[in-house]
Amino acid sequence: MYLTKEEEKILEGYEGIVRQRALEIVVKVGEVLGAKRLIEVAKAHISGISYKNIGDAGLELIEELFTNRGAFSIPVSLNPAGMDLKLWKLMNLSKTYVEKQLRIISCLKSMGARPLLTCVPYLIEPPSFGEQIAWGESNAILYANSVLGARTNREGGPLALFEAIVGRAPYVDLRVNEFRKPTVYVICKLRKNLKFSRLPGLIGFHIGSVIKSGIPYIRGVTKFLRDDYDLRLFLAGMGTAGGIGLALINGISPEAPKGVPKDLEKVEVDEVELRESYERLSIDLESVDAITLGCPHLSNKEFRNIVDTIKLKGKSHKRIIVFLPRSISNSFSLVKLRKYNLEVYNDTCMVVCDLKAMGIERVVVDSAKAAYYLSSQGYDVQLMSFDDILRWAFT
Ligand code: F3S
Repeated sequence: MYLTKEEEKILEGYEGIVRQRALEIVVKVGEVLGAKRLIEVAKAHISGISYKNIGDAGLELIEELFTNRGAFSIPVSLNPAGMDLKLWKLMNLSKTYVEKQLRIISCLKSMGARPLLTCVPYLIEPPSFGEQIAWGESNAILYANSVLGARTNREGGPLALFEAIVGRAPYVDLRVNEFRKPTVYVICKLRKNLKFSRLPGLIGFHIGSVIKSGIPYIRGVTKFLRDDYDLRLFLAGMGTAGGIGLALINGISPEAPKGVPKDLEKVEVDEVELRESYERLSIDLESVDAITLGCPHLSNKEFRNIVDTIKLKGKSHKRIIVFLPRSISNSFSLVKLRKYNLEVYNDTCMVVCDLKAMGIERVVVDSAKAAYYLSSQGYDVQLMSFDDILRWAFT
């Protein structure tokens, strides 16, 4: 691989052991992927920082980087952690868990990260078209590439961490214009009044399950995506079921081709198979412990929608727990909302915190991504649309 003089110096250890080791890893990954050189990245988003997920091994790695004077060389944001940094007492967590999660965040902050602790960094600091970034978190990667036209590969948690230290990533795959072309044509012929048409996450999950990898060019789906929230649910579902990092959606993606490219394999989204995906993710529950919303994190619009429903209808009959960026809920009285059966958490999410510790085993969600991960963690999950959930909870 071609390396600049500066990169060679880093590899020789002139800039400290952490930068040396981080660049060694980035170069190795690049060689495996067939990159001919590295490229500078403008910002990074690091996932895999919940103590619940990374455990002691992850904590040790981060502490070691920090102790050896590791620092980020570009702006860095963080994905959700394993608890709300202010309301963790309400989450019924052990002292050890809390202490270790705080150590993870403290090291990353000291290395220069901004603790946004959200999986929707694109709503807070969106990258620009063509900007090279190093993002972990599949929903954010898909949104950055497919909606904003930024350039990132699907960087796993540790790789984004090392790329953030050296400010570089392998120049390969979705970072390169010529590799951002569709590899499969997906046509969505679902009826608009179909039972599942209000579950955009399920449609995305289903497409991801069918094609698994590559770059889909998708037509016929925008009628199921009424707003940006639907689009986020759709992309999160797709990123969960497959290794897809870029979807070219007709009518949405700036890089989507104008017409259907010739000679592409064609896949039709079929209602029978969609039902099978639904049955994989959802069971009918007789009783539920809570409704959990915010996978990906809610924006101001959805949160306001819930608060306005409370203003109109009063207390929810069900326990509702929502996850969203702190900057959005800052202006609301969370104590007051609790009286209406609405619990708000920041810094974390339903998948990377410990819902069982909060007395929850059976949940209703509107997100296929959440349904997939919570089911695999042993929760009983029912998938329902956002609108249906609000109707159900308040009548
Ligand atoms: Fe975000 Fe957690 Fe879902 S990180 S996309 S809310 S699994």
